Amino acid sequence: MKTLVTVGRGGTGKSSFTALMAKAFIESKQSPILLVDADPDQNLGEMLGIDLKEAGKSTIADLIVSTFIESGGTTVGIPPSQRIEARIWEKGLYESPNFDFIAVGTKWVEGCYCMPNTALKGALESLTKTYKYVIVDSPAGLENLNRRITSNVNDIFDILDHSKKSQDHVRRAHKIAKEVDMQFENFYLVGGYRFPSELGKKAEEELNFKYLGKIEADEQLDQYVLDGESLLELPNTNKAYISVQNILKNLGYL
Ligand SMILES: Nc1ncnc2c1ncn2[C@@H]1O[C@H](COP(=O)(O)OP(=O)(O)OP(=O)(O)O)[C@@H](O)[C@H]1O
Ligand SMILES: [Mg+2]
Repeated sequence: MKTLVTVGRGGTGKSSFTALMAKAFIESKQSPILLVDADPDQNLGEMLGIDLKEAGKSTIADLIVSTFIESGGTTVGIPPSQRIEARIWEKGLYESPNFDFIAVGTKWVEGCYCMPNTALKGALESLTKTYKYVIVDSPAGLENLNRRITSNVNDIFDILDHSKKSQDHVRRAHKIAKEVDMQFENFYLVGGYRFPSELGKKAEEELNFKYLGKIEADEQLDQYVLDGESLLELPNTNKAYISVQNILKNLGYL
C-alpha cells in the first residue's frame, strides 16, 4: 500500500491534481484505490462526481459525533476504534467500481474530540491496508497536515503557484510534516497550473526538493470544475491529465 498526500496553498490546484492522479491509476487498472477528502470544504467529492448525501453516506466527522457524542458513553463494550471502524465501513465509505472515497468533514476542535481522533486514526490505519493506493487531498491550511489520518506517507506532493509565498509554504509544510511525526519517504514539488515552468529548476535548487514538473493550465478542466462535472470523465487527451500522467510515469507509478 502506498499513501500519497497532496498539499499546497489555497487554490493551487491540489484537489484537481488528486482527482487526476486517481484517473491515472484507474485508467492504468491499478486498484483498489481509496481517495480521502481531508478538506472540510469537500471539493474533491464534487470533482469525482460524488454526492455523499445522495448516496446515503456521512462524513467521518458526522460519524464521530453520532457514534461518540450523541450516543453518549464511550467506554462500554466494544473499544472505540472498533466501533468507529465498523461505522466507517457501513456509513462512511462510498464505494464505486473504480475507487472508494471517504470525506473527513468539518474541522475538529482540538481537545474535545481527542479520544475519537485516536480511535479514528487506528480505524483508518486498518481500513486503508486493503488498498493499493490511498490518496489524500488536504485543506490549504497546514496546521492539520493530516496527522490524524495518515502518519505513514510515501509521497507528499506540494503544489506550487506563482507566488513567493508558495516557497515559504513549502519550507513550512516540510517542517510541520516532520514536527507532527509524519513519516514520509519523499517530499516533491509540483508546479501548479499557474506556476511559471521556467522557475522549476530554481525552486528545486532553493528549496532542495525534487521538482517533478508542471500541471498544464487547461480550460477544459476549469470548465468541468465550473460545471460540477467529474474530472474522471475528462478525455484522455486532456492536457492537464497528460501532465499528471507524465509526473506519475517519471516516478514509476504508471
Ligand atoms: N490545470 C488547471 N488548469 C486550469 N484551471 C485549473 C487547473 N487546476 C485547477 N484549476 C482551477 O483552479 C481552481 C482551484 O482548483 P482546485 O480546487 O483544484 O485547487 P485547490 O488547491 O484544491 O483549492 P483549495 O485550496 O480551495 O482546496 C478551480 O477553479 C479549478 O478549476
Ligand atoms: Mg482543494
